[in-house]
Amino acid sequence: MGKAVIAIHGGAGAIARSRLSPEQERAYVDALSAIVTCGQALLAGGGSALDAVTEAVRQLEACPLFNAGVGSVFTHQGRHELDACIMDGRTLEAGAVAGVSRIRYPILAARAVLESSPHLLLIGEGAETFAFLQGLEAVEPAFFSTPARRAQLERAQAAQQTLLDHDGAPLDSDRKFGTVGAVALDLAGNLAAATSTGGMTNKLAGRVGDSPIVGAGCYANNANVAVSCTGTGEVFMRTLAAYDIAALMEYAGLSLQEASERVIGEKIPVLGGSGGAIAIDREGNLAMPFTTEGMYRASARVGDAPSVGIYREGCGEGGHG
Ligand code: GLY
Repeated sequence: MGKAVIAIHGGAGAIARSRLSPEQERAYVDALSAIVTCGQALLAGGGSALDAVTEAVRQLEACPLFNAGVGSVFTHQGRHELDACIMDGRTLEAGAVAGVSRIRYPILAARAVLESSPHLLLIGEGAETFAFLQGLEAVEPAFFSTPARRAQLERAQAAQQTLLDHDGAPLDSDRKFGTVGAVALDLAGNLAAATSTGGMTNKLAGRVGDSPIVGAGCYANNANVAVSCTGTGEVFMRTLAAYDIAALMEYAGLSLQEASERVIGEKIPVLGGSGGAIAIDREGNLAMPFTTEGMYRASARVGDAPSVGIYREGCGEGGHG
């Protein structure tokens, strides 16, 4: 049954076994497993890679465990500013939104920008007005808040730190980076990628990271690869990390594994960044490199059992990473 495959991530960082209770680990594994299995079924039924990554990221946004959609982190001012991007490897069309706080599913707004606007990236109120005109669901900004994220903001502000993720890590330390993403190759041979995030805890109002930037946190091209990144957004932007993986494959002839390891394992750390990526090439090969202790991740090839991973070695339950 072809090479169709989907991979998802829910962020990378210092996710040691000792930090997660068995109940927390089970919750992450169950969520990742359910979402990747849904994406696999979509692909098995002949669904497009674009639809599979849209739906996978929408479901990740709906899950409060992850820093995207509901459960997003707070800005310094105690608000939410969400970013999302989607790219179709078949057409090289892309859509993105940044700094939105009232669209229930930012990835659907990014998809609407791709399909129903002449633009690529819309921000703030303009993006929201566009999304609502497209019939997307509006919510109050407080919809995205959770007590855990509020506590994280308070810890960050007490420490006067800007944090990259849920559990409160300084920008320059190797902890958890909350962003979600999906990449897929469908039965027709088309690639797609999608990425969504709440950004960084205690970030300045107006700060935008790599997630909604084509070529930085998200990229797809049928000629080579689909990539979704998670990590130190500023460094992923400076390295154009997602596109760099594609460029190393296209211009330098590197394999998917070599290109993704070069960018995530070498080029990102050189500039002081850390994080990870998920990537699928046009042959259906899969890479999920990360520099951190762990990365919430899952993959499912059509016809095979899904695989779920959290830690560098071994996994949570329900598969292997
Ligand atoms: N990588 C997500 C962000 O920096 O916003």
